[in-house]
Amino acid sequence: MINELIIKRKSIVLFSSDPIPGETISRLFDAARWAPSSRNVQPWRFIYSLKGDSFYDKMFSCLVEGNQLWAKNAPMLVLTVAQVISDNKDSSNIYAWHDTGMAYSNLVFQATSEGLFVHPMGGFDRRKTRDVAGIPEGYDPVVFAAIGYKSDSKNFSSELIKRENSERVRNPIHEILFHGRFGYSTEFSGE
Ligand SMILES: Cc1cc2nc3c(=O)[nH]c(=O)nc-3n(C[C@H](O)[C@H](O)[C@H](O)COP(=O)(O)O)c2cc1C
Repeated sequence: MINELIIKRKSIVLFSSDPIPGETISRLFDAARWAPSSRNVQPWRFIYSLKGDSFYDKMFSCLVEGNQLWAKNAPMLVLTVAQVISDNKDSSNIYAWHDTGMAYSNLVFQATSEGLFVHPMGGFDRRKTRDVAGIPEGYDPVVFAAIGYKSDSKNFSSELIKRENSERVRNPIHEILFHGRFGYSTEFSGE
C-alpha cells in the first residue's frame, strides 16, 4: 500500500464553490515553503485569488476555455511562479521549475490532507498571465491550479460527470524504472 494521501489526490473537475477557511489556506502555503530546493534558494512564488475578490476575474480569464468550464466552480485559483534568473541577473537556476514543482507538491498533499482537491492547469495564456499577474522578468509562470472541495451535487453536465468518473491510468513500472542504465529491466514491479 502506498500512502493514503497519494491515493486520495486527484485532479477533480466537480468542484463545490464552498469557501476554504483562511487558516487552511495559510497551512497550504506553509507546507509549500518547507519544500527542498537547490542551494535552498526557494525559487517558488505563489499568486492566489479567491472567487469574488478583485483579482479573480482577470486571473480566471487567463485560463483556456476548456479549463474555465470546470475551474469556474472552484473557490480558489493559484498560479505557481518560478524564479529562473537570480536577482542580480548573473545566474540562471536550472532547477527552478523542478523546485517550484516540489513546493507545489507539498501544497497539494497538505490540501489533500485537509479534504481539498487541487487540479493543475498548463492550459492558460502565458503572455496574458505575465501581464495580468504582473510577473517580473526572471520569473516564469509555471502552472495554474484550481483548489476546492469536491461537490456532491448532481447538477453538472454529463460530460463533466463522465470526465470525473473516467478511469485513471498510469504507465507500468517496467516502462519507467531501469536498473543502472536506461532501458535495463528491473526486478521491482511496483504492484
Ligand atoms: C503540468 C500539468 C499541466 C496540466 N494541465 C491541465 C490542463 O490544462 N487542464 C486539465 O484539465 N488538466 C491538466 N492537468 C491535469 C492532468 O491532466 C492530470 O494530472 C492527469 O490526467 C492525471 O490525473 P490525476 O491528476 O487525477 O491523477 C495538468 C497536470 C499537470 C501536472
